[in-house]
Amino acid sequence: MGVTLETESGSVSPTRVVVGTILEVVAAHWILVGVSLLVTRILYKRYASPLRKYPGPFLASFSRLWKVISTASGRTHLQHIELHRRYGPVVRIAPNEVSIASPEAARNLLSAGKGFHKTDFYGVFPPPENPDIFTEIREDVHAQKKRVANVPYSMAAMQQLSPFINDTIELFMRKIDEHRAANVGSGPKGKVFDLGAFLHYFAFDVLGEVAFSRSFGFLAEGRDVENAIKTIDQSQAYNGIVGQIPEVDYLLRRNPVGKFIPALSTQNALITRMALEEMANRRPFDKENAGLLRSGDGRRDLMASLIQGHLKNPERFAEGDVFAVAHGAIFAGSDSTASTMQSFFWHVLSDKKVYNKLNAELDQAVQDGTIPASGNLSWNESQALPYFQACLREAMRVRPAVGLNITRIAPKEGAELDGHFFPAGTRIAANGWVLHRDRKTFGEDADIFRPERWLEDEERARVMDRYMFQFGGGSHVCIGRNLALLEINKVIPRLIRDYKFELVHPDRELKAFATFFVVQEGLEVYVEKKP
Ligand code: HEM
Repeated sequence: MGVTLETESGSVSPTRVVVGTILEVVAAHWILVGVSLLVTRILYKRYASPLRKYPGPFLASFSRLWKVISTASGRTHLQHIELHRRYGPVVRIAPNEVSIASPEAARNLLSAGKGFHKTDFYGVFPPPENPDIFTEIREDVHAQKKRVANVPYSMAAMQQLSPFINDTIELFMRKIDEHRAANVGSGPKGKVFDLGAFLHYFAFDVLGEVAFSRSFGFLAEGRDVENAIKTIDQSQAYNGIVGQIPEVDYLLRRNPVGKFIPALSTQNALITRMALEEMANRRPFDKENAGLLRSGDGRRDLMASLIQGHLKNPERFAEGDVFAVAHGAIFAGSDSTASTMQSFFWHVLSDKKVYNKLNAELDQAVQDGTIPASGNLSWNESQALPYFQACLREAMRVRPAVGLNITRIAPKEGAELDGHFFPAGTRIAANGWVLHRDRKTFGEDADIFRPERWLEDEERARVMDRYMFQFGGGSHVCIGRNLALLEINKVIPRLIRDYKFELVHPDRELKAFATFFVVQEGLEVYVEKKP
């Protein structure tokens, strides 16, 4: 390599001599130099970190690649269970990140006011220029937005929208009846019914009604209209995987060229289009109409309530927030609710004793007038079904709908969790699939689905409830949990009361793929109307 060692004045510069020599060595031995740099980096990341004392996969100790690979595998929820079984309660899962298994530590990690904050993982979820409540990582801005949005998401507000959930349930039941009617002549059990897919359509259509006073039409058509569900799942996979190394987002979706790659853009997706149309329908926003649908039935749906929140407080809750929060609800509330209901049915139908006991409870409740013999149940009526509630809790415990870790960053003064001190900036992750299997909290048989554990001892049940993380926790606890629980509590007892279900493949696990929510497939049943 020809490096000029002489300066313009003709003297030999020592700096140039050193630089020249280094360049010559690098050019002659570039492979060796590359390997040495890599090894140095590995050693540095692995050993110069305060997290070096925590065990974990070798790759994770010097690179975030372990997390990328684990997320891309779709089995990250199961891998985390295995990791903690192998390495113990604190596992290093990235150079600057640990996963914790203690429910008590997780409660502190998530609780409001302890100074932990969301990581840049959430910033990858679109649209980055207008974060919603889920994706907003500035804690103070998040708190302002959430204060406004909490009102329309309250149980009282959701109960007012009950009639629209009821209508969607009626449509669901009609679709099952149509399926049965079309089955005539195909054997005593009839044709296979994809209950999992229909629960997914139901969850979506409820959100359309609640957020925009419109049905997305999934149940009516009995299919994934315009591949909207598939689009959301693909976007979720991108967010989950790229979110492990958020810088990569700038090369892909945030790259100006990314707009032209259809797979990276969600702008034309059905849900986004509908949300934009609904915003347009309600303009101009004014106090008199408070965002009620101009041409519709004037109901106070989520978007109307958010517009009202905006009109009351335009600085804290801008117009863009109305769109972002209503639109974000569909992304956050569809797969999650569907997955929860699928898990419920899979577990209950897999265990004849549990299924029979649940049927007996519902029969008895009809007989003694606790619930109506036909039509929909109210929230209060389904609360009076202790075994159903135990089955639901147990399903959310064993298979929580979020399969990826929830990660927070330690505050500037560092933090102590479960006797471990983590310095400022450490990423600390908690996974519901791990936390909900803690034997000290949930019992030696925590791995298995056993609803009775919730009914044996009231005090014990209260303690277990304290350590359930299916809806996250603290200031970032799921804002949509009232809606999710309301629709689940209305539709599931109705389905079980009115129909008889049998799994087509009783010994086959549901196919589950988690890059954030656990997306499930394979809940196929034979269904029959009860006399
Ligand atoms: C059974 C159904 C559901 C489950 C299991 C669930 C689960 C969760 C979990 C675990 C979190 C915390 C995530 C984190 O901290 O990273 C969360 C947050 C959130 N969920 Fe849900 N969710 C469900 C339904 C819904 C519904 C129906 C909506 C909206 C209509 C919704 C909207 C949100 C939002 C906006 C957040 C962010 C809250 C914040 O950061 O303050 N979720 N959810």
